Amino acid sequence: MSISTITLADAAATEAAGGRLAGTLSGGMVVTLSGDLGTGKTTLVRGLLRALGWQRAVKSPTFTVVEYYAFSSLYFYHFDFYRFADPDEWETAGLAECFRDDAVCLIEWPERVAAYLPDPDLALRFALPPAADAPGRLLSIDARTEAGERCRRAMIATTGGTRNAG
Ligand SMILES: Nc1ncnc2c1ncn2[C@@H]1O[C@H](COP(=O)(O)OP(=O)(O)O)[C@@H](O)[C@H]1O
Ligand SMILES: [Mg+2]
Repeated sequence: MSISTITLADAAATEAAGGRLAGTLSGGMVVTLSGDLGTGKTTLVRGLLRALGWQRAVKSPTFTVVEYYAFSSLYFYHFDFYRFADPDEWETAGLAECFRDDAVCLIEWPERVAAYLPDPDLALRFALPPAADAPGRLLSIDARTEAGERCRRAMIATTGGTRNAG
């Protein structure tokens, strides 16, 4: 499978990238979102959910660990494991039950729960541009399955980001 890197000029471009991803997701898929605090992970998920028609708030699950969204028969679970400290919580909170054929799982800070997570279809990684004062973000899109590969192609296909080499 392949990896692409796109440039996201501003927060609107990050939301648009989420919107392009939205239409290619299907039940059972797992997407990880890595990168430092404030690099745009939640912004991409917000754009994704908005593109699917979600009109109410999209909150960061920093304190709740997981927020969920239902679109007719498809569920979206948005996790943030930044503050996840107690491994037992994975069991007691029943988080494994979120990984189902009728659910898409979008996971911030997957590194914190690597031992529990299934292999993702798509691994997204956000970074600041190399020049400290440059605007925007770099997003690397790493497809790990055929389904993830369809997502990668959709995310790089249209406007909203400049395509870089690789
Ligand atoms: N491509 C971008 N360029 C500049 N700012 C961005 C970009 N994408 C998102 N942001 C901004 O970065 C800030 C942090 O975004 P957020 O999605 O909460 O980060 P994270 O979830 O990775 O901690 C927000 O103010 C958001 O508007
Ligand atoms: Mg976040």
